[in-house]
Amino acid sequence: MSDLFVELTAPNGRKYSQPRGLFINNEFVKSKSGETISTINPSDETEICSVYAAGPEDVDIAVAAARKAFKDPSWRDMDSTARGELLLKFAELIEKHRETLATIETWDNGKAYTISLAEDLGEVIGTLKYYAGYADKIHGQVITTSPKKLAYTLREPLGVCGQIIPWNFPLAMAAWKLGPALCTGNTVVLKAAEQTPLSILYLATLVKEAGFPPGVINFINGEGRKAGAALAQHHGVDKIAFTGSTATGKEIMKLASVNMKNITLETGGKSPLLVFDDADLEQAVKWAHVGIMYNQGQVCTATSRILVQEGVYDKFISEFKEHVAQTSVVGDPFKDDTFQGPQVTKAQFDNVLSYIEAGKSAGAKLIAGGEAFKNVGGKGFFIAPTIFADVTDEMKIYKEEVFGPFVVISSFKTEEEAVERANDTTYGLGAAVFTQNITKGHRLAREIEAGMVWINSSNDADIRIPFGGVKQSGIGRELGEAGLEAYTNKKAVHVNLGTKL
Ligand code: NAI
Ligand code: MG
Repeated sequence: MSDLFVELTAPNGRKYSQPRGLFINNEFVKSKSGETISTINPSDETEICSVYAAGPEDVDIAVAAARKAFKDPSWRDMDSTARGELLLKFAELIEKHRETLATIETWDNGKAYTISLAEDLGEVIGTLKYYAGYADKIHGQVITTSPKKLAYTLREPLGVCGQIIPWNFPLAMAAWKLGPALCTGNTVVLKAAEQTPLSILYLATLVKEAGFPPGVINFINGEGRKAGAALAQHHGVDKIAFTGSTATGKEIMKLASVNMKNITLETGGKSPLLVFDDADLEQAVKWAHVGIMYNQGQVCTATSRILVQEGVYDKFISEFKEHVAQTSVVGDPFKDDTFQGPQVTKAQFDNVLSYIEAGKSAGAKLIAGGEAFKNVGGKGFFIAPTIFADVTDEMKIYKEEVFGPFVVISSFKTEEEAVERANDTTYGLGAAVFTQNITKGHRLAREIEAGMVWINSSNDADIRIPFGGVKQSGIGRELGEAGLEAYTNKKAVHVNLGTKL
């Protein structure tokens, strides 16, 4: 066996063979330059292994493979039900390898294993099955105009789709993008995040076994500014779908303009969670906790800005503090009772600590945390769950996305003020509202500028429901039926049934 695979034993004792190559045309290959990137276990800062990193030349090869596959009759003319069955087979194989995939995800990313196994992998399998079911239910329309014209639409795939995913939910973000792209007949070059390449490469081992023709699904690793940028500006790519930071999303928009690619962007947020005096406070506290502390706070839709009406402000803070202290168990992500593992990288860890300093120096009131968490063997990128209260609108910690177990709390007087402050942000991803008054709940859902509003919950997104943002939180929608729109064109066909010139 070449150095394209390495035999590894994960911290939980699981042994497996880790691919290290680029996955192009159903084969693992080295990068042309031989360049590699190494990936780190964020729990103890040791290197797990290195993987080959794509440069522009490798991107060219992957895109050419995807282009060839797109035109190949084995894929282009495949019966739509058979295409759905391929996706189902892929989902079944993932189920079979569920423990290994969850292990790799936890090892490379730091998220709790119990959560990787149940929730991330559950979402991956669920998403692929959901879109498998759509493969033979995608169709155009006949549009009636006059007896002299037959007009109809065809739903066509876009072509070669470049997909650039982040490190916070590597496998789930891959599934969100692969499912709709494949069930509609596109081909894909997906670039994993350089911080978490390993689970995506293992997923690649299941692509060929599922029976996808060569070139339909290609996975590459590599740095954003090299491999990602090469993909975003490639003339052979028809669409770019991206999840990540708003700054990178803007960069990708510019790069994608070279050939006017279709784009879907899912970027950052500073999502508000509003708690009104008439809320069920116990529920508000529990959902607020999940809304910000889940996945180490590394969630684009995290409700990171809590606004509480003054009548329940002090009570909310004391109950929230108590609930976080009891529930946010920080520790080794392979331990069963761990809720919060380390931040994904040193860079993210340092970034969160810098926001903690900014909060302290701005004079916000520190309620909990406010430092690194050192009790996991003294190593790793762990942060104590951090709560700041009495935060004001001009503070940096109130405005900017922190992407950590870090939440700001502020009080408001009236509904009008709550809406105004909820909307006073460049972002518009999620929002949550807690009230027992259903009229008020629905009214707020309309008034808040966001792609998603939760009434009396937070972040219980669902693969069957559209996901995405407004303002600088993104363009387009993923998941649900809406996710199919992002991967098909409607072609209009006009048939002359007798008009003579
Ligand atoms: P990033 O947005 O730079 O990286 C996300 C993906 O984009 C990675 O695959 C990366 O390789 C790629 N990329 C980076 N620069 C690129 C370029 N010029 N052209 C094409 N692809 C490129 O995010 P990063 O630096 O890892 O994290 C920074 C911040 O972004 C986080 O602190 C967080 O605030 C936010 N973020 C948001 C995510 C979300 O789910 N919306 C996910 C990850 C990060
Ligand atoms: Mg890593």
